[in-house]
Amino acid sequence: MEPILEVKDLHVSFSVRGGEVKAVRGVNFTVGRGETIAIVGESGSGKSVTAQTIMRLIPSPPSMIKQGEIIFNGQNLLAKSNKDMEAVRGKDIGMIFQDPMTSLNPTIKVGKQITEGLIKHQNLSAADAKKRGVEMLKLVGIKNAEARFNQYPHEFSGGMRQRVMIAIALSCQPALLIADEPTTALDVTIQAQIISVMKDMQQRFGTSIIMITHDLGVVAGMADRVMVMYAGEVVETGTSMEIFKNPQHPYTRGLLRSLPRIDQRKDEPLVPIIGTPPDLIKPPIGCPFAARCDHAMSVCEKIDPAATHLSDTHMSRCWLLHPMAQEVTTS
Ligand SMILES: Nc1ncnc2c1ncn2[C@@H]1O[C@H](COP(=O)(O)OP(=O)(O)OP(=O)(O)O)[C@@H](O)[C@H]1O
Ligand code: SF4
Ligand SMILES: [Mg+2]
Repeated sequence: MEPILEVKDLHVSFSVRGGEVKAVRGVNFTVGRGETIAIVGESGSGKSVTAQTIMRLIPSPPSMIKQGEIIFNGQNLLAKSNKDMEAVRGKDIGMIFQDPMTSLNPTIKVGKQITEGLIKHQNLSAADAKKRGVEMLKLVGIKNAEARFNQYPHEFSGGMRQRVMIAIALSCQPALLIADEPTTALDVTIQAQIISVMKDMQQRFGTSIIMITHDLGVVAGMADRVMVMYAGEVVETGTSMEIFKNPQHPYTRGLLRSLPRIDQRKDEPLVPIIGTPPDLIKPPIGCPFAARCDHAMSVCEKIDPAATHLSDTHMSRCWLLHPMAQEVTTS
């Protein structure tokens, strides 16, 4: 089946004093219809820039899309005018962020913020839009939805605001939802509720989801596939099972050891990855992880490893996977 989204060789930079920050460096991935993919990786690895480029939400300047294609439903989003993109945003692709307070307009009642998109994109009358808006609030688990419809964002708790954001993002039934750390600002029980609302809504509408998260519990509970980013590159992708049970890239292994997991044994301490990611103004010519990798060989510093395909779904970029690499024991 044709995927809903194909990102091909995407390169995104920022002009800064002192040069060009090469934030996204040759990213490739696809998202199938109804599929959930999780993007994981340390802070600064290019997750949000990738997501915002799909939505064409990063201002240019300072950002520059240097190269690549983003094919959504057969059309290259990077070739669209700003006006055509406005029609895609909200209608075909919805997005939710970490902090709904910054994406909800504090001066406008939530009901109006839901109906705006429905009137604009779906040509609904004000009365029908209100009906659908109230229905959406109910679907995401907001009680007294009719009364809540006429309230302002600050009258909602953090978790309730995130439910409102989900209702807005999904009101026009977009084919794709991009969720950039949607639960990070919430406490643990509320996080679980938000994830369950998202899963519910996905089942109801068949939405594809790109989920950016630092929470491996969310990844394990939601994602069909996982994409691991490091220093602007995709270093490993695979099904959730492949990534959790059989990670092949030393960075993926380090990341799994450094973040809490639901299946964590109590005697298994979290181990941070020592060191810091490279400076993306002058990214290394070889493997970007070489300076922090326990297994780095001399080739690693000179040539960036190509993708090795371990299965139809599992890809990793590491010299250790080269057929002639010497057997190493990695943990
Ligand atoms: N406006 C900007 N100007 C300059 N550099 C930027 C800008 N926005 C992002 N970057 C750089 O792009 C790189 C990728 O940033 P991005 O926000 O995508 O990281 P991330 O993976 O989402 O991290 P986090 O987990 O902290 O959200 C970083 O090195 C960041 O410093
Ligand atoms: S290519 Fe080399 S430096 Fe990079 S992760 Fe693999 S072994 Fe480590
Ligand atoms: Mg981010």
